[in-house]
Amino acid sequence: MAKIEINLDEIPEGKSVTFKWRGKPLFVRHRTDSEIETENAVDLASLRDPETDTDRVVNPKYLVLIGVCTHLGCVPLADAGDFGGYYCPCHGSHYDGSGRIRKGPAPLNLEVPEYSFPQDGLLVVG
Ligand code: FES
Repeated sequence: MAKIEINLDEIPEGKSVTFKWRGKPLFVRHRTDSEIETENAVDLASLRDPETDTDRVVNPKYLVLIGVCTHLGCVPLADAGDFGGYYCPCHGSHYDGSGRIRKGPAPLNLEVPEYSFPQDGLLVVG
């Protein structure tokens, strides 16, 4: 299956950039230290689909997600919603800065694809 190579220098800190991979949107967010701290401080008991932030990232500076809402498959908007992450306008699902579902009808967190950082500044997804 096709892989995508992403030059991380193209993603400024604090921004989420959308790519296309295997026909789906792929979100890559370069997180700030304060975003990472916020996500690590979330109480797992408050989550519908409990996963630690650490379990969802390889390098906490970069969040890599499939941009397909787990409710009915719309594409969420980046930097929107009540939890500093993504918001799906179709039926109002709010995802946090780790892509975890926090409010609205979606049942599951945004999917994390397989990826690696084969060298400094390079992300390979797939
Ligand atoms: Fe995203 Fe329904 S498809 S909230």
